[in-house]
Amino acid sequence: MSADHKSRQPGPEIKLAGKIGKRHEVAVVGVWKGDNGPIVADSAGTFDEATRELLAGQLHTAGATGKAEELTRIPAPSSVRATSVLAVGLGAAPSGKDDSPTAEQLRRAAGVAARSLIGVSSAATTLGALDLGAAAEGFFLGAYAFTEFKSEKSRPGPDAAPLAALDMVVGKPKSAKAQRTLDRSLAIARAVATARDFVNTPPSHLYPAEFAERARQLGADAGLSVEILDDAALAAGGYGGIVGVGQGSSRPPCLVRLTHRGPGGKKGGANKTVALVGKGITFDTGGISIKPAANMENMTSDMAGAAAVIATVALAAQLDLPLTVIATVPMAENMPSATAQRPGDVITHYGGTTVEVLNTDAEGRLILADALVRASEDAPDYIIDTATLTGAQMVALGNRTPGVMGTDEFRDRVASLSQQVGENAWAMPLPAELRKDLDSKIADLANVTNHRWGGMLSAGLFLKEFVPDGTAWAHIDVAGPAYNTSGPWGYTGKGGTGVPVRTLFAVLEDIAENG
Ligand code: BES
Ligand code: MN
Ligand code: ZN
Repeated sequence: MSADHKSRQPGPEIKLAGKIGKRHEVAVVGVWKGDNGPIVADSAGTFDEATRELLAGQLHTAGATGKAEELTRIPAPSSVRATSVLAVGLGAAPSGKDDSPTAEQLRRAAGVAARSLIGVSSAATTLGALDLGAAAEGFFLGAYAFTEFKSEKSRPGPDAAPLAALDMVVGKPKSAKAQRTLDRSLAIARAVATARDFVNTPPSHLYPAEFAERARQLGADAGLSVEILDDAALAAGGYGGIVGVGQGSSRPPCLVRLTHRGPGGKKGGANKTVALVGKGITFDTGGISIKPAANMENMTSDMAGAAAVIATVALAAQLDLPLTVIATVPMAENMPSATAQRPGDVITHYGGTTVEVLNTDAEGRLILADALVRASEDAPDYIIDTATLTGAQMVALGNRTPGVMGTDEFRDRVASLSQQVGENAWAMPLPAELRKDLDSKIADLANVTNHRWGGMLSAGLFLKEFVPDGTAWAHIDVAGPAYNTSGPWGYTGKGGTGVPVRTLFAVLEDIAENG
């Protein structure tokens, strides 16, 4: 077990500043799409009227229109002290005074700008004056890079390195409130980067014991209490799902528990308890029900739910949320071998429910079932689980829209908060008539139906069997959204996206605030 991997690149250093200066190679400005060309957005009043007009004219000549996420780079006019100006489109111009881009539009614009600032050591931006938190998040996440496995031969040099430092130019750079906003956003963005790092670490290097060790390290640094059950403890404890899935691998499974005990609730009373559960399959071959070779490498992302949950509980501690948050994270590698579970095996889950394993590739629900029952023993007020659970999630909703199922009210609350932070989860039903298709002839339940209809929903119905009646519960399927296999967009690069860290954290904050 080694946690001596090179610790992650810190990401750009983002600070508040009062003005653009000579030290800045690039000044990033937002431009609206006006009827007669781009309009410079400058809510902090960084530029005078003449400079705004001049910039708009020069950008117009260079082809800028202001349409969303369009980039135009020009030499800075003499009244702007940076070397060059990078204009990023914000979309349609505001019609009224209070009109401003949505937080997500701004995050994406900032992310697109950050991705283009390769080789830039120092930049400034006026985008933070529109929405400081969103702009900072977008820049930080857009500048994310994962280079741990590039040797000297191909590691990017200074000319190809991501943006190193950014000054956010705002009206009141010394304001404590602005500083708090910036600090909070950067903490969230760093948690997203932590989840991305876990997902991007290849399965050769991230296997259950190593993942647990890194989670322990992160948790200890954040002040969490940590408990790790190894495979002997799992077998002794009756965790048949985690043991069954993990038994085909030479690298044994485990269960990690991370607890944040925050200060008392708002009125000085007891705070709420939230259980987080995340699927931690460090690699999913399918097991004996083996997957086709094409794209199997993407199954390095099958621990993205675990990564998000671990990063989020650590963030809750860093920001001292007045909640008890307990993460229960099952970790296993799903491999075919002489010791692997077979299609037709029956396992006994933690808590006693028996399941007939008709397809060893429906392994996520098996490890989650044990974890959900264990998590319920803490009598949480809310349970949220998240997993790269089904290919059917992508069939239903595509690659950027997580599906959220669960108890009606809490499911809708999670979906709504997810949309507010730009992760855009969508509420999906758990149709009662599908439940009987999970009946088994010989056990309490089968792990798959004998048809492919509503595959995301039947997985949700399976999990529901392990959630206590009456507990508010949400299940977020992020099979597609957790891992970007196509080109970069907005603040999202190729590989791990960090979804749904920002949804989970928004839900925790909302519960801390409103119960
Ligand atoms: N990890 C996969 C789901 C997945 C597929 C995630 C593609 C990301 C991209 C999961 O363990 C799985 O294999 N699910 C099966 C379930 C089926 C056997 C009922 C699936 O979706 O095909
Ligand atoms: Mn699988
Ligand atoms: Zn899987």
